[in-house]
Amino acid sequence: MRGLLDEVAIVTGGGGGMGRAIGLRFAAEGAVVGVFDRDAGTADATVREIEKAGGAAHAVEVDLTDYAAVSAAVTAFEEEVGPTSVLVNNVGWDRFLPFLETTPELWDQLVGVNLFAHLNVLHRVLPGMKERKRGKVVMLASDAGRVGGSREAVYSACKGAMIALGKALAREHAREGICVNSVCPGPTHTPLLESVKDEPNGEQLYEALRRAIPFRRFGDPADIAGIVVFLCSDEASYITGQSISVSGGLTMHG
Ligand SMILES: NC(=O)c1ccc[n+]([C@@H]2O[C@H](COP(=O)([O-])OP(=O)(O)OC[C@H]3O[C@@H](n4cnc5c(N)ncnc54)[C@H](O)[C@@H]3O)[C@@H](O)[C@H]2O)c1
Repeated sequence: MRGLLDEVAIVTGGGGGMGRAIGLRFAAEGAVVGVFDRDAGTADATVREIEKAGGAAHAVEVDLTDYAAVSAAVTAFEEEVGPTSVLVNNVGWDRFLPFLETTPELWDQLVGVNLFAHLNVLHRVLPGMKERKRGKVVMLASDAGRVGGSREAVYSACKGAMIALGKALAREHAREGICVNSVCPGPTHTPLLESVKDEPNGEQLYEALRRAIPFRRFGDPADIAGIVVFLCSDEASYITGQSISVSGGLTMHG
């Protein structure tokens, strides 16, 4: 894909299932990848895989829900690697419970990871993109944010907010050459999806999810990585404010 050689791409939650696949795909296109994750072990593992494949990456251990920590991490990363031209807001977390069984403490945790973490990184990275008049942002939302997900009401609310946030920022920053789009995966094979099985009746829910997909299989992280990298390439320079489902046909929007 055109336009990614030597670009600097931050992938939040880059140690996780999709984050790792996305990081590997960026590195294959010649971008330098910042793997931002609170789990230093998985972030390092992503960096090692990228390096083994001949790419370049840096692990950054940071709790993305902490604004001051994010600010310091971005400063240190950019001083070492260079200005960020691509940001993938991929970090996410969920618990699969009926809304009435959730607590305000859990809402705080869910909103912290699924919304505030993105606000934190965007607020720190967008000023540089604005100044340089170029940048690409992808929000890893979810089909739950478009159609609602049973047993994930607060998560769905955050994912809907991510899509709206992306559209608002796409409008605010279009004249500065910054594109902001959302990718909405359906159920995809990662540690997050496997955690469904730990919930009450989780095995049944897991199987019901699989059966509801027209392709009759869960997504693979590599199914998601391609569209993310495409949206950050020069091939997609006239695409902004859009939401694209990658869900094996589970949801089909007009
Ligand atoms: N897997 C799915 O079925 C699915 C479906 C739709 C959307 N999504 C979304 O895709 C994105 C990637 O999901 P995944 O399945 O790869 O998840 P994952 O659980 O495999 O990875 C998430 C990563 O985020 C990191 N992380 C969590 N909280 C953090 C914090 N506070 N600070 C820093 N790092 C933190 C974790 O350490 C982990 O490496 C998420 O936004 C998720 O909501 C996933």
